[in-house]
Amino acid sequence: MAETATVAGQTRYDAVAYPATVFSATHPERLATIARLHGLVAPPVETARVLEIGGGDGVNLIGMAAAYPNATFYNFDLSAAAIARGAALIRATGLTNIRMEVGDILDAVGSLEGPFDYVIAHGVYAWVPEHVRPAVMQLIGRVLAPEGIAFISYNALPGGHLRRVIRDLLFHHVGHIEDPVEKMQRAHDVLLDFGRARENDRPVMAGMREVARPMMRQQIAVLYHDELGGEWHPQALSDVVATANAAGLAFLNDASPALAYDGLPGNDDDDAAIVRAAQTSDFGSMIFFHQTLLVRAGRRPSRRLVVDAMRSLFVASSVQRLGPDIFKFEQSDFVVGDADLADTLEMLGKVWPRRVPIADLAATDDALEALFKLWTAEVVTLHAVPLPGTAEPGARPLASPLARAQIAIGQQNIYTLDHRVIAMEAAGPRAFLALLDGSRDRAQLATDWAASGHGDEVDVDAALRQLAAAVLILA
Ligand SMILES: C[S@@+](CC[C@H](N)C(=O)[O-])C[C@H]1O[C@@H](n2cnc3c(N)ncnc32)[C@H](O)[C@@H]1O
Repeated sequence: MAETATVAGQTRYDAVAYPATVFSATHPERLATIARLHGLVAPPVETARVLEIGGGDGVNLIGMAAAYPNATFYNFDLSAAAIARGAALIRATGLTNIRMEVGDILDAVGSLEGPFDYVIAHGVYAWVPEHVRPAVMQLIGRVLAPEGIAFISYNALPGGHLRRVIRDLLFHHVGHIEDPVEKMQRAHDVLLDFGRARENDRPVMAGMREVARPMMRQQIAVLYHDELGGEWHPQALSDVVATANAAGLAFLNDASPALAYDGLPGNDDDDAAIVRAAQTSDFGSMIFFHQTLLVRAGRRPSRRLVVDAMRSLFVASSVQRLGPDIFKFEQSDFVVGDADLADTLEMLGKVWPRRVPIADLAATDDALEALFKLWTAEVVTLHAVPLPGTAEPGARPLASPLARAQIAIGQQNIYTLDHRVIAMEAAGPRAFLALLDGSRDRAQLATDWAASGHGDEVDVDAALRQLAAAVLILA
């Protein structure tokens, strides 16, 4: 077994559950989008065969499986408790296109049958012992389809060196504590105290407190595993790529749009020079996290943006227009000088989260390059596929099976079909969503909605529109 057991047969992840969520950067449609920007063919998302390695309870894959019924998904993880939670959730959804099993990377490397179009290893690579890392790459190298894309995220160097200082500090204070709950709480208190600015802080101390602050904002169970786990080995990008190369894989890019120039520097350098330049920029930014995308060695990704490929993609944005050339995105305002681009952004903001086909924008190459820049600034999102689900619910509306299962078991953070999380606490929307199992027509919905005690809050059509806008309606 790769993990040190805590109690006989149990891993740390059995003892303390790793908080589950969905990660949009791991989604095959993100991977396909980036491959296309490099001029590569990517396997169709709607019918993809997707593997997640060490995916915990598999919520990330369940979210995808709910939205893409014709794609198939498989997750394995060493933690029996995590897999049991995931299997229970799958049963509650009724989904048949996803499987998960207890399994060890060290076994799977020799036995797992592929091929898979997309392989995801989120938050695993830096948290396993030394000898498991090459096995992760060999496994991917063995099961990845010829045109497949792999995603592998990890705590990175050199930023990891800074976190190491805080980790040492935490171990100093709580290393001796056995009880996981006490250990997590005490570690959180230590971080709270350390993160507080002091009068006369030297710049280096102010900087270290900055390093500690995001750590204390994490859920304490994440803190327990990510910062206090026995295995934590931040990796340099160049070492990760070297291990990937040895397994027949090659660097494509990072899954974060903000790092897209790593793989698309716009020159004709060979892969070794591309990775070296990306590593140089990692030193410049003291990077702490990477989401590296890999393809089979021998594929030839363009290192210049393939502008024409953008015409096959979709674009979305939640920007708001404040004035003729002023826009608001999240907390900041910015100016857009080009009038056509400004109109496009305004239109996108109005229909968000809908994704608009870029081909419909009839944009020039220059306009597409501007859109690409806005993507790297994370003001717009690019997508290989249209928004999943439907904006116009059918005769017998059907909501996401995952969202309905979550409502049934009382969860409040609901996963949308486009792989986001929304808080749904109010009883009315929850009761309405629960009715959308595909068996009721509008008349039956109206009757059952009235009987629910919430019927006077909003009429059936308006409630359907709201849930469709939240990307929760499948058909
Ligand atoms: C930090 S958690 C990440 C979980 C999930 N991928 C996420 O990002 O939320 C690391 C996961 O790797 C799993 N793991 C560790 N060693 C493993 C191995 N040898 N084989 C399979 N899974 C393993 C753990 O059980 C745990 O669920």
